Amino acid sequence: METLRGRTALVTGASSGIGAVVAEALAGAGARVGLVARRKDRLERVLARCRERVPDSAMWVADLADLDAVDDLAAAVEREFGAVDVLVNNAGMPKRRRVQDLSPAEAEDVMRLNYLSPVRLTLALLPGMIERGRGHLVAVGSVAARLGPPHEAAYAASKAALTAFWECMAVDLDGTGVQVHVVQPALIGGTELFTQPGNEAPLSDLSDALPPQDVADAVLNALAEGRFEQYVPDWFHEMASGKAADVDAFVAGVKEWTRERLER
Ligand SMILES: NC(=O)c1ccc[n+]([C@@H]2O[C@H](COP(=O)([O-])OP(=O)(O)OC[C@H]3O[C@@H](n4cnc5c(N)ncnc54)[C@H](OP(=O)(O)O)[C@@H]3O)[C@@H](O)[C@H]2O)c1
Repeated sequence: METLRGRTALVTGASSGIGAVVAEALAGAGARVGLVARRKDRLERVLARCRERVPDSAMWVADLADLDAVDDLAAAVEREFGAVDVLVNNAGMPKRRRVQDLSPAEAEDVMRLNYLSPVRLTLALLPGMIERGRGHLVAVGSVAARLGPPHEAAYAASKAALTAFWECMAVDLDGTGVQVHVVQPALIGGTELFTQPGNEAPLSDLSDALPPQDVADAVLNALAEGRFEQYVPDWFHEMASGKAADVDAFVAGVKEWTRERLER
């Protein structure tokens, strides 16, 4: 894979779960890593592990739902690091709530953190990448972006918006040297996504979950191979193309699956 030695990487949502493991993997590949999240104590622990590999890695405590603070964050990181070569937009929140119980404010909160905030950070760091003629813009999406899961309308919509933005960005940035990647994880365990307050219990069996390291591997592969979209696990790609081939049959299947789960 492309060596990241001498390169910088900024990872949002690096205080737990997927982001913490991705940050450590990037440091393991030699990148000077910048970590962002709200919980200082948790970030400090991840930073200590990254610094064992790359001592001048750094952290920023920020609430990414505050969109104006996102611009300040981008400026602070560029001042400290000089340049950001790899941006991993990973911070995100779940919203497991069937649409009949969803409030407009909840739908807006999810969109702000999962879509508007990564777009804002990306647009703030993009001019520098274009000027240098290199960079990687990574989004941690979700299979929900493509598959319309039950009781997750707000979450799925935020990830679909993120994916659509990324897809168009991949085309627009052709020839600039800036590469665009989206990683779409299915069920990943060892994270805090399934214990966040304000959510229904998950309908899926968490015993089927994959480790966050699989997402970190997918990020590193995407950087090395220049691939646009990567599912984790890879076979979810077939589920997405199966859905595209017959959306009505897919929706009928999801309804049946959901009924079975709710009756358990
Ligand atoms: N786990 C899965 O099955 C799965 C599947 C598909 C996609 N994903 C996606 O993977 C990403 C990481 O999720 P995860 O599973 O690793 O869950 P997680 O352990 O809850 O991680 C979420 C991260 O986002 C940060 N974050 C949340 N709100 C924030 C805010 N307002 N400002 C700054 N940072 C914020 C959290 O840090 P603080 O609380 O410290 O701020 C934390 O570091 C999310 O985008 C999620 O949608 C997860």
